[in-house]
Amino acid sequence: MSEKIKEALNQAIARELTAITQYMWHNVMATGMESLKIKEIFRNISITEMKHAEAFAKRLNYLGGVPTIKPNPIKVGGNLEKMIRDDLELEEGAVEMYNKHIKICIEENDYVTRRIYEEVLADEEEHLHTWNSLLSK
Ligand SMILES: [Fe+2]
Ligand SMILES: [Fe+2]
Repeated sequence: MSEKIKEALNQAIARELTAITQYMWHNVMATGMESLKIKEIFRNISITEMKHAEAFAKRLNYLGGVPTIKPNPIKVGGNLEKMIRDDLELEEGAVEMYNKHIKICIEENDYVTRRIYEEVLADEEEHLHTWNSLLSK
């Protein structure tokens, strides 16, 4: 199976590992009255990101690759708005990357990996929408 696909999957896994920790630590660290509901959103998204990491890692393992254990730089801390802005940036990056990776899957005729990316991408667009709508109040 294509090295390009394996490389893409490992980039995606690093991104998901980043998101898992960033969201879970935002859940732990967020303070203030308005954070109560949002802490739960951070926590739920962190768990979704873990499922994404698992799906990508299972696929990479099946293709004979070794899933990375290294996340990208993680942004934690600051007030609630800073956290949400950092998470928005994270999701924008994910949407951009996964759209590119879907194109690679099409070029490489890997329809199963493509389907995994498409399902994950739908979740990331939802996360992006959550942060955009909260910031545009
Ligand atoms: Fe994700
Ligand atoms: Fe996400």
